Amino acid sequence: MTVLVVNGVRQMVEADPDMPLLWALRDRLGLMGSKPSCGIGACGACIVHLDGAPVRGCVTPLAAAAGKEVTTIEGLAADPHHPLLRAWLAEDVSQCGYCQPGQIMAAAALLAAHPQPTDLDIDAAMAHVLCRCGTYQRIRRAIHRAAGSADMPPVPAPPPISATAFQFDPWIRIDEHGTVTILIDRAEMGQGVLTGLAMLVAEELEVDLSAVRTEFAPAGPAYINPLLGKQSTGGSTAVRAAWEPLRRAGAQARERLITAAARIWSVEAASCRAAHGAVLHPSSGRRLDYGALAARAAALPAPTQVVLKPPTAFRLIGQPTPMLDAPLKITGRAVFGVDVQVPGMRVAVVLRCPSFGGRAVSVDVRAAEAVPGVQRIVPIASGIAVIADDFWAAKQGREALAVQWEAGPLAALDSAAIRTALAAAARDPGTPVRDDGQLDAAFAQAGRRLEAVYETPYLAHAAMEPMNCTAHVRADGCDVWVPTQAQGGAQETVAELTGLSPAAIRVHSTFLGGGFGRRLQQDFVAEAVQLSRAVDAPMQVVWTREDDLRHDHYRPANHNYLAAALDAHGRPLAWLHRVTGPAASLDGAHFPYAIPHVRVEHTEADPGVPTGAWRSVAHSQSAFAIEGFVDELATAAGADPYAFRLDLLHHAPRHQRVLELAAERAGWGRALPSGHGRGTAVHQSFGSWVAQVAEVSVAGDGRVRVHRIVCAVDCGLAVNPNAVAAQMEGAVAFGLSAALKGEITLTHGRVLQGNFDDYPILRMDEMPLVEVHILPSREPPGGVGEPGVPPVAPAVANAVFAATGRRIRRLPIRAETLRTTS
Ligand code: FES
Repeated sequence: MTVLVVNGVRQMVEADPDMPLLWALRDRLGLMGSKPSCGIGACGACIVHLDGAPVRGCVTPLAAAAGKEVTTIEGLAADPHHPLLRAWLAEDVSQCGYCQPGQIMAAAALLAAHPQPTDLDIDAAMAHVLCRCGTYQRIRRAIHRAAGSADMPPVPAPPPISATAFQFDPWIRIDEHGTVTILIDRAEMGQGVLTGLAMLVAEELEVDLSAVRTEFAPAGPAYINPLLGKQSTGGSTAVRAAWEPLRRAGAQARERLITAAARIWSVEAASCRAAHGAVLHPSSGRRLDYGALAARAAALPAPTQVVLKPPTAFRLIGQPTPMLDAPLKITGRAVFGVDVQVPGMRVAVVLRCPSFGGRAVSVDVRAAEAVPGVQRIVPIASGIAVIADDFWAAKQGREALAVQWEAGPLAALDSAAIRTALAAAARDPGTPVRDDGQLDAAFAQAGRRLEAVYETPYLAHAAMEPMNCTAHVRADGCDVWVPTQAQGGAQETVAELTGLSPAAIRVHSTFLGGGFGRRLQQDFVAEAVQLSRAVDAPMQVVWTREDDLRHDHYRPANHNYLAAALDAHGRPLAWLHRVTGPAASLDGAHFPYAIPHVRVEHTEADPGVPTGAWRSVAHSQSAFAIEGFVDELATAAGADPYAFRLDLLHHAPRHQRVLELAAERAGWGRALPSGHGRGTAVHQSFGSWVAQVAEVSVAGDGRVRVHRIVCAVDCGLAVNPNAVAAQMEGAVAFGLSAALKGEITLTHGRVLQGNFDDYPILRMDEMPLVEVHILPSREPPGGVGEPGVPPVAPAVANAVFAATGRRIRRLPIRAETLRTTS
C-alpha cells in the first residue's frame, strides 16, 4: 500500500511499488489526464508534479511518490481561471490534444521556476515534451501570455443539457434548453473537424456556437462520407464532403423551427426569421427560443427545398473560431481511446513476431502466468496476447514470455537491399501514366540532358496515442470503443470476425491522439474483438510505442528517376519522371509545369513491407522529387528558382498565386545573413494549393537549422481560418520531422527503430517560425489536413542548396553529407 496526496486528497494505492506512477494514477485512481505514449520518459505526455517538480510518470515508480504531493492536470484544471488554461485557450493551442496535459504541466513547472521565461528558458524546459501535431509555436506564445497574465476569459462552461432532446436528422438534436447537439461523423484527430462541421450546421441553423455541444456519431449508413463512399476520415475530405450536406441539414432544421413558430402564432412562415437560437416575428415583436419549439419542429417533415446562404451572408463560416473541444483537451477531460473504461474490462498486450510475416513455433508461458495480475495467455492471429487486470501487469507478463519464432517469408527484408532493388527496377522504362508530346524525339534532339534520382525512405506515423481498441463481443451484439478514422471499417471488421449483423455492432468513437492515416487500419480493432470473444469479457488492447513503430503500415520507400531534355539555352523541352514503388507512389506525380513533352511512368515494386496511407500519402514524395528537380532545372537555366517556376506556371493561376504570396511575404530576393539560404516549393493536393519558402542555415557539422517557413495556401473558402493556420503549422512540423529525421530501416525483416529516441520527431527548440497566409477565396473549400506537408521537404532541400551548393536528393537530410568541418 502506497500513500500519496493526489491533487490535495490523501490516497492509498494498492499496487506494486514498482508500478509506474502513470499507471497507478490511471488504473488505480482513474485519473486519465496523464497520457501513456513512449514508456521511456522521452515524450512528456505523462508529466505530473511531485512536490511541485515535473516528473515523467511512465518512468517514475509509484514508490518514489510515497508521501509526496502529486499534482495532475485534473488538479491544475480544478481552477478554471488558471492562467495557463486561459492562455492555452486564447492561443488556441490544441490540435489532437493528446500531449497537451503534459505540455501544460511542464509549462506550469517552468513558470513556477521562471515567472517571466525567455524563449531560451522555454526551449530548455519544453524541448523534450513532444507534440506530433506541431503546436510548439502556439505553446510558446501561450506560456508568454500566461506569464503576462493579461486579461483572458476563464475556461467556458459547456451549455446546459436536458434529458429531453429531439432528433431532427442524423446530425442535429435540440433539447428543451435550446442546446443544439451536433453529431460529428468524422474522426477528430487534431484537424479541428469537430469545430468545422459544427460551424457548417450552426451557420444555417442560426444558432450561436456557445449553444452548441457535439457528440461523435455512431457507425451507420447516414454517415457515409460521400467523397469516399464509406464512413471514413481521410484524404482531407471531412469539411469538403460535409460542405453542402451539413449546411443543408442546418437550413432544413431552421425552416422546421420557423414553421413551428409560425403555426403557434398563426402567421405566415415567411414573416418570421431565425437568429441566435430563436425564431422572431419582427412585425409583432414576438420571439420563441428553439428549446420551446424543438418538440413541434422535430415532428414536422423536413422541407425538400431550402436556399443556402450566399457567402456574403455568412456570420460564422470564414471567421477565425477557437476549437470547441479545446476546454476538454486542456483539462484532461477529453476521452481518447486509451482512456475508455468499461465495467469488467481486462487489458491485453500482444507480443507480435519481430519480423514481418513470421509466427510463433513455441511459447513458454509459465513465467508470464506467474506475474501478479496476469489472467490468461491467448494466441491470436497477430501474436501472443497477455491478458491481465491492467496494462502494467499485461506488459510485465509479455516481457516474461519465452517464444521461439519462425521468421517467415519476409525475413530477408533489408533496407539496403530494398534500395538496391528499387534502383534496379527503375533502370527499365515503366508503364506510362501520362505521355504528352514527343518525349523520345525531344530527348534525341536535345542539346543537353539532365538526370537525377530522388529517394525517400519508409516512414512511421508515430501518433502520440499508441494504437488501442476496446471491444465487448456478446452473443447478441458487440460494442467497440475506438479512436478510429474508419468507423465503417471497424463495423465491417467486427462483422467479419463475429458474423454479427452491422445493426448489432455499435461503434463508439473517441478522440484520436493523432491519426495521420494510421487509424484507417483495422489491425488493433481485430485484436480486441478476437480477444473479447476468447475470454467472453470486455477487452482493451493497448499497444506500446515499440509495437506502434515496429508494426505500422508505413509510408513506402520509393525511387524517382527524373530526366529533362534542355535546349541550347538550358530551357527544359521534355520531362521524364519514372516512379518506382507501390502503385500508391503515383499520388502527386502530376506535373503542373508547362513543358512541351512530358512522360510520367510507374514501375511497380513492392518488397512486402506493410504499407498504408501516411499524411499526404505519396504527395510528400512526389513533391520532393518534382520540386527538387525543377530547382535543378532552374539552376541549369541560370534562372532564379522562384521566377523560373512562375514562368512555367503561366497556365496554372492557383499555383502562381500561392507562389507569389509566399515569395512576397518571405521577402524573396532580399539579402540573408551569411550562411543562410532560401528555397521554395509549390504543390497542389487534396483540392488545395500550397507554396512554402524555407529559410535555413547549415552548420559546419552539417546540421540543418530551419529558421522560418512562410506558407501560402489557397484552400478555397477557409471555413475556419484558425484551423487552416493550425493545420499548416502542424504540417510543417510533420514534414520537417520527415525531412530532417524520419527513416524506418529494416534488417532481417524487422524494423530497427522502436521509440522516440531512435525515431525522433521535431522538438520545440527545432521548430522554425511558421507564418501562414491564406488566400481569400469564394471557391468551395479544399482539404487542409494534408496539403501543407508535401512542399516542406523540397523547400528545405532547395534552401540547403541555396546555402551550400549541395543538392539533397535523398531523405532524410543527413548531416554527414553536408559536413564541412572535420
Ligand atoms: Fe500535441 Fe496532438 S496536440 S500530439
